[in-house]
Amino acid sequence: MTTSTTPASTEVSSRLGLLVREVEHVVRRGLPPSRTAHLVAERLAPHLGAGDLLTERQCEGDPDRYRQHVLHAEEDGSFSIVALVWLPGQRTSIHDHVSWCVTGVHAGREHERRFELVPGSDAARLVRTGDFVNEQGEVCGFAPPGDIHRVWNAGPGKAVSLHIYGADITRLGSSVRRVYH
Ligand SMILES: [Fe+2]
Repeated sequence: MTTSTTPASTEVSSRLGLLVREVEHVVRRGLPPSRTAHLVAERLAPHLGAGDLLTERQCEGDPDRYRQHVLHAEEDGSFSIVALVWLPGQRTSIHDHVSWCVTGVHAGREHERRFELVPGSDAARLVRTGDFVNEQGEVCGFAPPGDIHRVWNAGPGKAVSLHIYGADITRLGSSVRRVYH
């Protein structure tokens, strides 16, 4: 299932503006990707679930596929922030990422399955390494390699998550480096 993308919004709540400045502060330190992701996750966590973070429009889903609302793209291309909206049953492909990535659940609950690419005699194969349930308010930060996963909404209601990537996804189109079949 591919995503539908809403272009960068001009609607920026004061809370979202604050989050952008906090992320800028971390990213400008120029730390290694995994350390940056860890610190950005710490900054994101207190904003999750706050009623004044996103507008109603930024929480709208798409009946056909999970929807991506671009909330912010840093001018120098160093990071982007998106809201992903999942209606029940919607999911991503199995994929990895072009950069470090931080996710946090704003509303609902996300299911995640992680994989590892194991070398075989003919070709590498994907092996499941764990299933996780990410509850509202939980954050997770990671950096490639070793970031292969699939995410879906297994709950009865809408789920909304915030994703911060160490790349300009408005230029790249997506944070996905590779899709695995
Ligand atoms: Fe992902």
